[in-house]
Amino acid sequence: MSGTAFDLVILGGGSGGYAAALRAAQLGLSVALIEKDKLGGTCLHRGCIPTKALLHAAEVADSARESEQFGVRATLEGIDIEKVNAYRDGVVSRLYKGLQGLVSSRDVTFVQGTGRLTSPTTVEVDGTTYTASKGVVLATGSYSRSLPGLEIGGRVVTSDEALNLDWIPEKVIVLGGGVIGVEFASVWRSFGCEVTIVEALPRLVPNEEEACSKALDRAFRKRGITSKLGARFAGVTQSDTGVVVTLEDGSTLEANLLLVAVGRGPHASGMGFEEAGVAMDRGFVLTDERLSTNVPGVFAVGDIVPGLQLAHRGFAQGIFVAEEIAGLSPNPIVESGIPRVTYCEPEIASVGLTEAQAAEKYGADQVQSYEYNLGGNGKSQILGTAGFVKLVREKDGPVVGVHMVGSRVGELIGEGQLVVNWEAFPDDVAALLHAHPTQNEAFGEAFLALAGKPLHSHA
Ligand code: NAI
Repeated sequence: MSGTAFDLVILGGGSGGYAAALRAAQLGLSVALIEKDKLGGTCLHRGCIPTKALLHAAEVADSARESEQFGVRATLEGIDIEKVNAYRDGVVSRLYKGLQGLVSSRDVTFVQGTGRLTSPTTVEVDGTTYTASKGVVLATGSYSRSLPGLEIGGRVVTSDEALNLDWIPEKVIVLGGGVIGVEFASVWRSFGCEVTIVEALPRLVPNEEEACSKALDRAFRKRGITSKLGARFAGVTQSDTGVVVTLEDGSTLEANLLLVAVGRGPHASGMGFEEAGVAMDRGFVLTDERLSTNVPGVFAVGDIVPGLQLAHRGFAQGIFVAEEIAGLSPNPIVESGIPRVTYCEPEIASVGLTEAQAAEKYGADQVQSYEYNLGGNGKSQILGTAGFVKLVREKDGPVVGVHMVGSRVGELIGEGQLVVNWEAFPDDVAALLHAHPTQNEAFGEAFLALAGKPLHSHA
């Protein structure tokens, strides 16, 4: 293969696109990876990685602020946002360099430019046509969306601008209590801001287990974060110094900044997809479970495909498509088996079905659940965190859902993910040891209890 003919042409170099490129190259396929901005996409440059760096800086600030309860005398003098941003940029740029090196070492042809699907087998970039003999992969990602009539600009920002602020607002309103909203609320509170979340539904992180929403609400209240739940946004005005947000009930809120975090939309229009005959729904690209669109040879992965908009889903889908095109017939990805982590303080981590979803699927009397309180977990006590591990099982059947709240519980979801996806029974896991004293032990305790032999709990 040479010139502009490849086995695979991938449009979009974010998590889904570059994973497809790396795996396809590993399988001996020739690959062109087209990206208009930076390799790594939203996750590396505007999402997962930079926000988690901010959350770590926030944790350091909290540790300094709360040091006295551990007998350590430290004072939090303040947040040097320039240095926080420099630390964050350092993390991103090291990973970016590494990723660029990886892509070039695997012999993937990286094309810098804006691509357009001109036929089911061709993508055009600045007048050059890249032809795919085995498949085209659409992986163009998502953007921060707003509400109709709510214009982004000035003091009304999305996560894109919020990430790059070079000042810390005194008072901030967060519109949307979903994943992005609670993460930024958490960071800003740790940085000393007065934070109010406005969420239309009756609870924070409404896609999560209800018990997790309640625990987060409690923890946030304790941290001094105000949540206005069941509150609908009506409008905003802004001046040189601040914003005034009006809610549908007529009340107003004032702050220096409004973060709009009401979801991310698919970035899939204006690139020739419809013209090539690709079936779409509300801007998303429709696929079957093998990630094939209705146009033979055209596949789609990541945030443009309806479902969880998560980087690790994009990686998995990218790998799947590369293997599918290479003829390996991989197993389809089960959406409910994808682990989810909300990285605020305290964290929420989950995989599988919520109790309500399990009741709907199996019938309420066919579902059993158990909640192990972190109050009984030594390591959580040492860290000073509250929360729980909740397991949901099909009666006399496997565990179908794992839900956790507490500091650092995101790191525990790996085991939860194995349990749910391997369809383990409580007895299977209860027989395995969990190291003491770790937070992971809370997991073991929950399984012991569900298997009918609780150790450090009253179940
Ligand atoms: P989201 O869908 O998680 O939350 C948006 C929230 O805004 C919802 O709770 C919704 O009820 C609320 N809302 C919508 N319209 C409203 C209105 N008019 N007034 C008040 N509230 C309103 O979307 P979010 O947080 O913007 O995140 C976008 C995507 O990015 C998510 O799908 C998420 O999976 C992904 N993401 C994942 C992260 C993670 O895994 N840790 C981190 C950041 C983003």
